[in-house]
Amino acid sequence: MTKLGVLASGRGSNFQSIIDSIKSGYLDARVEILITDNPDAYAIERAKNNGIPFLIMKPGDYPDKDVYYSAIAGALKERGVELVILAGFMRVVKKPLIDAYPMRIMNIHPALLPSFPGLHGQKQAVDYGVKISGCTVHFVDEGVDTGPIIIQAAVPAYHDDTEESLAERILKEEHRIFPYAIKLFIQGRLRVEGRKVIISGQKKADSILINPPIL
Ligand code: GAR
Repeated sequence: MTKLGVLASGRGSNFQSIIDSIKSGYLDARVEILITDNPDAYAIERAKNNGIPFLIMKPGDYPDKDVYYSAIAGALKERGVELVILAGFMRVVKKPLIDAYPMRIMNIHPALLPSFPGLHGQKQAVDYGVKISGCTVHFVDEGVDTGPIIIQAAVPAYHDDTEESLAERILKEEHRIFPYAIKLFIQGRLRVEGRKVIISGQKKADSILINPPIL
């Protein structure tokens, strides 16, 4: 069983999808700890409801970012965490944590990277007027949403989408691809070569999404 540590800042619906995937037996894993930077995060309720220990660690309580991320790394290591999951963690993770978990930190981002990194990926896509957007699970490196990509899901974006309507369409796919990416890790099927993530025994996708559809 793989030991997971989850970092989340807010609602925690991705955290919930991971909890549900463990409960259903889809993931052979256990969440050892939830760490949040936000005392009001609904993710805390989800942890409580599922008997998962949690820590509130606010960056303002530490002298600087390096000390903060060293403390997070320490808390994760202390619990034997093998894979770190950023499930709506709204901060750029710094070197001490990345060095403690090289290619062992996964993030979900609500856009098709490398488009629209950083905050508000869905709003950036709506404002830009793209016809296809989606979400990305990637390993975390020192950049902002720049690490090797594990899996992406594409969804159509419509001219009358709001940030919220697009976010909702994307979120559904987040809840599918994140547990799958974690499953691939647990199964030892992910290998990183430079920027590329190679997945052993993986069928290739053969469907094309065109939006608007050609009539
Ligand atoms: C998700 O859409 C996730 O992709 C996004 O925040 C939301 C968290 O929702 N993450 C980022 O934008 C990271 N830069 P959740 O708390 O319900 O999982």
